[in-house]
Amino acid sequence: MSRKIVVTSALFYANAPIHMGHLVESIQTDIWVRFQKAIGNKCLYFCADDTHGTPVMISAKREGISPEQLIGRVHGEHLRDLKKFHIEFDNYYTTHSPENKQFSEQFYNKLNEKGSIVKREIEQAYCPSCNMFLPDRFIRGACPQCKSENQYGDSCDSCGATYQPTELINPACATCGAAPTRKTSVHYFFKLADYQQQLKDIISAGYTGKSVANKLDEWFSAGLRDWDISRDGPYFGFKIPGEENKFFYVWLDAPIGYMASCKNYCDRNGLDFNSVWNGSDYELYHFIGKDIIYFHALFWPAMLIGNGFKVAKRLFIHGFLTVNGVKMSKSKGTFIKAATYANHLDPEYLRYYYASKLTDGVDDIDLNLDDFIAKINSDLVGKLANLASRSVPMLTGKLDGKLGKLDSAGWNLLNQLIAAKEAIISDYENLNFASVIRQIAALADIANKYVEQNQPWSMIKTDAEKTRVVLTAIVNAVKILVIYLKPVLPIFAEKIEKILNIAPQSFADVDKILEEHKINEYVRLAERVEKDKVNAMLEESKPTQPVLPTEATQPAVPVVQLDEPIAAECTIEDFVKVDLRVAKVLKAEAVEGADKLLHLELDIGGVIKNVFAGISKAYKPEQLVGRLVICVANLKPRRMKFGLSEGMVCAGGPGGAEVFLLNIDSGAKPGQRIH
Ligand code: 2FM
Ligand code: ZN
Repeated sequence: MSRKIVVTSALFYANAPIHMGHLVESIQTDIWVRFQKAIGNKCLYFCADDTHGTPVMISAKREGISPEQLIGRVHGEHLRDLKKFHIEFDNYYTTHSPENKQFSEQFYNKLNEKGSIVKREIEQAYCPSCNMFLPDRFIRGACPQCKSENQYGDSCDSCGATYQPTELINPACATCGAAPTRKTSVHYFFKLADYQQQLKDIISAGYTGKSVANKLDEWFSAGLRDWDISRDGPYFGFKIPGEENKFFYVWLDAPIGYMASCKNYCDRNGLDFNSVWNGSDYELYHFIGKDIIYFHALFWPAMLIGNGFKVAKRLFIHGFLTVNGVKMSKSKGTFIKAATYANHLDPEYLRYYYASKLTDGVDDIDLNLDDFIAKINSDLVGKLANLASRSVPMLTGKLDGKLGKLDSAGWNLLNQLIAAKEAIISDYENLNFASVIRQIAALADIANKYVEQNQPWSMIKTDAEKTRVVLTAIVNAVKILVIYLKPVLPIFAEKIEKILNIAPQSFADVDKILEEHKINEYVRLAERVEKDKVNAMLEESKPTQPVLPTEATQPAVPVVQLDEPIAAECTIEDFVKVDLRVAKVLKAEAVEGADKLLHLELDIGGVIKNVFAGISKAYKPEQLVGRLVICVANLKPRRMKFGLSEGMVCAGGPGGAEVFLLNIDSGAKPGQRIH
């Protein structure tokens, strides 16, 4: 009897492009869903864009568009990128939908009626200039531990310390630079602890798997704290019923977005939502990354239980992605967007590579680019495509494209391949894709050995009919291997199906042998990966920052990175107001207590200006004294913690040691205007 399954993967934030890290989960989920369909189960895959919250609101503002316009555009970009990687959703929806609004209100009202919501006044950081409360990530300042500047309000990228935003040295609003104040307001809290026993029960029943259950035990022992589910306006989200300026926190309506996507699909396809989402005959699974376990193992099931919905049968949790062994890095060019990868390399190669690394565990997986090249060239091109290219062209070119009948050696080969079916099915089912790939590669080795032993390219010269028998075995081996691989390589499989002149295959077709069957002409299946393609992808991933002025009050690494939306337009009239002058550095010295700042005294043709510049990681004071630099001479002076800054020097680069001052001809005169 076939199973009925509903699958979700984590919703993508609507303020950033899809990158290689996201694709681990999308590819893992898509392979599993395709596998379920290939063994005859009914499987529906729902996802959406996660559209609400402060970051989306601020990104839209920076672009000078409405949040609705931003999320509309990004939805299209996300879908376009995911399609390139052959991620096949049954519905890719949005959390900014009528269904989601209605469900969110329903969840809240029900929890409220049950007494699971309480109101409390809390104090938070507030920007008096932007007139808004600041989430931790929107406060920047120096790390209280290592003193690195321009760190987030919750953790330091430089030393890894975590802290409260109130502990930051010199905190500033990340949007406008103003010093935050503290302000109180009333928030709504969900009493998570009310659901402790039910949560413990689902976890003992296998909801998360063992290792994660141990982590959850620690959280239970530490005590479940009330969860703050409201945010004050301005906020892009759904208003809390009965409130004017309070909204549901994005993480409240995000998982409800899984349901909204399902509901929207059911309504459009004439299905009963309650049976599909909540019916006991449908198994529900969520694929997530290990960073969002708390939300999916505690908050979300508690919300479902409180509302009388069933909880997913299991969370499938994966680890993070590293590239060449380290966290993806913008400055090293390893922060690779999905679209950038697809500009240079075949998306199916990434599916294959990720599959070869994925297990059921939460360990991180590494995209090692040399290993990627080696694996694709050896397995996909060398073992699999090679089997087809050594059999099909000979059959169509010299033997009328007609398969013969198998002999016992051929049966012997194919029986070995068919025998692996149950083990491969079990590995797919249990998310041990690495084992699936290892088994398929080993079977391809057996088939290639058969080719070597029989040498059809020599045999054809003396015995055409015997060669047909050998090639019939090889072609059938290709067919079996491709059925096994189809959840990973759907397009590769489709090409083979066309060449072999057969209908779309599934696991039920593994032992249906092709004999005396006419096949089609060969088409090229896979190209070798060349290192220069990988290098070109890395090159395109490097930040292409324009030469921006750096100033002490600006973070050395700009808050707005270039792969975030470009800021609102500035007119040429605005731009020409900037008065750039040649300046001579008279004095340069380190600033005590500031990690990246140098204090410069500049001579701008007789006018002396004090400037604090964030370039101390790139230049030593003694390298600068006597040097000519370009200075923004008409910048409004700003009072800083260390003194008054009366201008800024022009430099650019990814940040840290890679900040470069603009060069000027040594014959230029201080005060000379630069156009
Ligand atoms: O962590 C994230 O990227 C979130 N956008 C995931 C949300 S998953 C679900 F709960 F909606
Ligand atoms: Zn501000």
